[in-house]
Amino acid sequence: MKFQILALGLLAQALVSVPAAAQGSEPPWVPQARSVATSVPPKLLAVLQDEIVRNGPEGAISTCRDQAPALARAASEQSGWQVRRVSLRNRNPKAVPDAWERAALEDFDRRAAAGEPLARLERAETVEKDGRTVQRYMRALPTIDLCMNCHGTPDRVTDAVTARLKSLYPDDRAVGYRVGEIRGAMTLVRSVP
Ligand code: HEC
Repeated sequence: MKFQILALGLLAQALVSVPAAAQGSEPPWVPQARSVATSVPPKLLAVLQDEIVRNGPEGAISTCRDQAPALARAASEQSGWQVRRVSLRNRNPKAVPDAWERAALEDFDRRAAAGEPLARLERAETVEKDGRTVQRYMRALPTIDLCMNCHGTPDRVTDAVTARLKSLYPDDRAVGYRVGEIRGAMTLVRSVP
């Protein structure tokens, strides 16, 4: 009887500890960062899709230019995380990754080449940045067919889009992508609260 109770106790303990073990050693702030990072891209996508239908891809360029930073700003204000987008081949001259972001993007490319699903590519870490301790989270932004309108190979980008992009972004490096590549990432940072 005593043994039975002990065995039941151990079983209960094992059941309780299974979910914790399944979560691995993920720090508690990571799910929140993940949810902020995954909430912005679908909003932008919806606006972009609408605008492309209404005004063509060349008309939607200004939507991306205005709406992407506006949505990131709104997410920052709501969440307390500083939210932006970066890329190893950036279009906006300010979307250059810092050293930590560059290493993460390079790691995403390696993991993608090794067959990891793009939707799972993320990195979360607590690091020192400019003398303060910060939490950082990054999540890959994979290309889908819609992105080809403005980031694709020359056969996928119209002359009107190319002309508009050239005039707005003379140093644009964000063309020549194919579907299923990593275009860049959402990047979040905040001071340790
Ligand atoms: C209608 C044209 C258009 C479409 C479609 C489009 N983009 Fe962009 N993208 C832009 C423009 C313009 C910028 C630069 C915005 C700015 O000035 O901040 C940009 C910037 C970005 C950036 C920020 C880094 C950088 O290089 O400046 C990422 C990441 C990005 N796009 C990913 C995507 C993905 C992924 C898709 C498809 C889901 C997509 N874009 C679809 C026009 C487009």
